[in-house]
Amino acid sequence: MKSVGYGGYATRPRTSDTPARAVPPPSVPAFTPPAGPPSGAVPAVPTVAPTRRIIGRSPAIGRVLHLVSRVAPTRATVLVTGETGTGKELVALAIHDASSRAYGPFVAVNCSALAESVLESELFGHVKGAFTGATNSKRGLFQVASGGTLFLDEVGTLTPAIQVKLLRVIQQRTISPVGSHAVIPVDFRLVAATNHDLALLVKNGSFRKDLFYRLQVFNIHVPPLRSRAEDIPLLADHFRRRFAREHGLEAPPFSATAQMRMRTFPWPGNVRELENAVERSLIIHADDAFLSLELPADVHSPGDADRLLDRARTERWSLEDLEREYILSTLDAAGGRRSETARSLGISRRTLYRKLQRYREKMT
Ligand SMILES: Nc1ncnc2c1ncn2[C@@H]1O[C@H](COP(=O)(O)OP(=O)(O)O)[C@@H](O)[C@H]1O
Ligand SMILES: [Mg+2]
Repeated sequence: MKSVGYGGYATRPRTSDTPARAVPPPSVPAFTPPAGPPSGAVPAVPTVAPTRRIIGRSPAIGRVLHLVSRVAPTRATVLVTGETGTGKELVALAIHDASSRAYGPFVAVNCSALAESVLESELFGHVKGAFTGATNSKRGLFQVASGGTLFLDEVGTLTPAIQVKLLRVIQQRTISPVGSHAVIPVDFRLVAATNHDLALLVKNGSFRKDLFYRLQVFNIHVPPLRSRAEDIPLLADHFRRRFAREHGLEAPPFSATAQMRMRTFPWPGNVRELENAVERSLIIHADDAFLSLELPADVHSPGDADRLLDRARTERWSLEDLEREYILSTLDAAGGRRSETARSLGISRRTLYRKLQRYREKMT
């Protein structure tokens, strides 16, 4: 969906062939596309700004969408926080799409992917001869993002030197390319994201307090998927249809066990992990009557046997989590056949029923 440029950043085209997302349920405010391109930037073919839908019906996602719709039309700097895979970049795109800058570029930079000196010249540009190998001058991404949005991902990893420079750009809206004292005005809207607790980084001295306050002006927190379980079936269904279309596969419905399992699984990798699991499930089970859920930890060969335990240990699952996951994955792999499952788990059918009943109750 995203075209990644060299050097760890990506720019987006003004129009997109991204398939329209499923319409969100009525409780969630939909984005109003911007009225039209700003004068002077009229595209040859009239287009509607691409709107990448954020799927979800939980109150938590409703709050995120509300904040997006409030902040998008302004030029305020936004800090998107949340665990990895929760949809922070999608939120940044939604802000861009719903702003008057939607027809400008969306430039995404992953700050943790580049060494300090490379990141510096990417962001601020450099002049010819600024350093060995600088055979030409280069525009910085703050300039490339002119009229659009600059998305700085993983800002928690910025080095002190870049933090100072970033603070200056935010305050003065000018940059000086590496190797030059020229002062170039830049017109960007900044959206930053982090999966770190920036306040904690400030406390332990690795993040500047003044920059933190600048970024913190408007914070949107995207909650982890496990705390908004009602979004899981919607997202899973969206990915099921999307991957079936992309791979030219059938899209059988999820098995009852898969549905229960996805609702109770803790998803530490959040939406991205769910997305990957659905793709994998579809590739393996597209020709079955029902889709079983395939997680990377699922046992398919003897070498994989320790993965569930490894995972449970590193992610600090409770014994109950581990038992539930073991039971549901066994049941799912047995195609939902309960007697077979009970037998292979060495428990009675009654015990299995009782446990399944309890999981079902916890889900609602
Ligand atoms: N609410 C959502 N609706 C639809 N897709 C989502 C949603 N949240 C996340 N995704 C998808 O999950 C993946 C991870 O999202 P991303 O924005 O890259 O997460 P983050 O930046 O927080 O790591 C992407 O493919 C994204 O499109
Ligand atoms: Mg990300």
